[in-house]
Amino acid sequence: MTKICCIGAGYVGGPTMAVIAHKCPSIEVAVVDISVARITAWNSDQLPIYEPGLDEVVKQCRGKNLFFSTDVEKHVSEADIIFVSVNTPTKTRGLGAGKAADLTYWESAARMIADVSKSDKIVVEKSTVPVKTAEAIERILTHNSKGINYQILSNPEFLAEGTAIQDLFRPDRVLIGGRETTEGQKAIQALKAVYAHWVPEERIICTNLWSAELSKLAANAFLAQRISSVNAMSALCEATGADVSQVSHAVGKDTRIGPKFLNASVGFGGSCFQKDILNLVYICECNGLTEVANYWKQVIKVNDYQKNRFVNRVVSSMFNTVSGKKVAILGFAFKKDTGDTRETPAIDVCNGLLGDKACLSIYDPQVTEDQIQRDLSMKKFDWDHPVHLQPMSPTSVKQVTVVWDAYEAAKDAHGLCILTEWDEFKTLDYQRIFDNMQKPAFVFDGRNVVNVEKLREIGFIVYSIGKPLDPWLKDMPAMA
Ligand code: NAI
Repeated sequence: MTKICCIGAGYVGGPTMAVIAHKCPSIEVAVVDISVARITAWNSDQLPIYEPGLDEVVKQCRGKNLFFSTDVEKHVSEADIIFVSVNTPTKTRGLGAGKAADLTYWESAARMIADVSKSDKIVVEKSTVPVKTAEAIERILTHNSKGINYQILSNPEFLAEGTAIQDLFRPDRVLIGGRETTEGQKAIQALKAVYAHWVPEERIICTNLWSAELSKLAANAFLAQRISSVNAMSALCEATGADVSQVSHAVGKDTRIGPKFLNASVGFGGSCFQKDILNLVYICECNGLTEVANYWKQVIKVNDYQKNRFVNRVVSSMFNTVSGKKVAILGFAFKKDTGDTRETPAIDVCNGLLGDKACLSIYDPQVTEDQIQRDLSMKKFDWDHPVHLQPMSPTSVKQVTVVWDAYEAAKDAHGLCILTEWDEFKTLDYQRIFDNMQKPAFVFDGRNVVNVEKLREIGFIVYSIGKPLDPWLKDMPAMA
């Protein structure tokens, strides 16, 4: 029986391995992690991450051919194929700080593999890593090899949180990069055979190592760029009276452009886009490609601009101050159908409002109070470390309360900000919300989920990203 081990039981390691186990009953899959809490949760009824469809897949295979364990060394030494899906945070100190990837966790995983291995291994990069990481890993492994043969493959993951299981069941493509040697090609075929259990052959793309590594960074940069492009347009729409949804629809009808990923919003978030672009920028700079680096940097700048712009709209609309005012925040996760808050725009928006001394009442159907407090008191980039190693601020943010109901959040509030596009926010009883808010009552829709006309009829003053402005807002500057 082929044995697979995955180091890192996170958003990528957990779902990808669960799906491999589900689709390949003849393969034994072990997912290991240094975080005891994570592994305990994977073995419980309350999985550590929320993802539609994940529970069913895990429950079907767990204990049969899918195992979650903290016995990292045992499972690594027994495996034929080892996936590495550990954190790759942005460096906060030293060379490349604020841009380059910190490969501490990757290197420690590679050294551990070298220490405990007694047979030949295929080591698969699942984490998103800078181009040429495979070469570094290969060096660590071969210089400590004790005669064991290692083949390194790059197999970046393209799943999107919120639709991870669907994406893994029917991926647009699976990308496998390897060495162009006979052994390298053999390793590629071995991994291809795993995916071939359910992925059509024409969707499995094989390339050299560097193309695979770079393709992942490029794909995320292109996706983020689309969001920044439409968000840049949203600012222009507000200034001119155009409607960004109509512009997106018209633009997306061009088959060369396509309709997906063209929704204007308060900004992109998630653990990958910013980190991967910073990484790309750093690689460009290291290669002397200043113009290329600056081009991609702008995607992040526009994203920051969009979040600032939103905060400024809120504050300037509410008589230029939110000091001491209750503001309801609906949605904290970076997108709907996930509880993930890494780099969510809600963090910057909430911190911006707190900077103006607002009192926030936050509701998200999937995010806990503890998580929100951690996010609002953590320094930039500190989130991307294993949970038990995250530097923590000892104090919680006092002007923040977290509630389990949208109506409770909005009660007596002066304004309401929608920061995640959860479906339930479309069907709330906005009349009831209006009746219980201070007047004038403001809605700031950062995801274009509400029916603006209906809310205006109720009596709200409504701001919706990229939509024609409420007369109330017309003469107020969006940027200070
Ligand atoms: P995560 O933080 O959810 O999971 C990483 C796990 O690795 C943690 O549970 C941590 O405790 C564990 N870990 C770290 N060092 C370890 C070691 N030496 N031994 C054993 N376990 C160790 O991160 P996530 O989201 O799963 O991301 C992992 C990688 O995949 C990152 O490089 C990310 O950029 C990439 N990625 C993430 C996607 C996403 O949607 N979250 C999509 C595609 C790629």
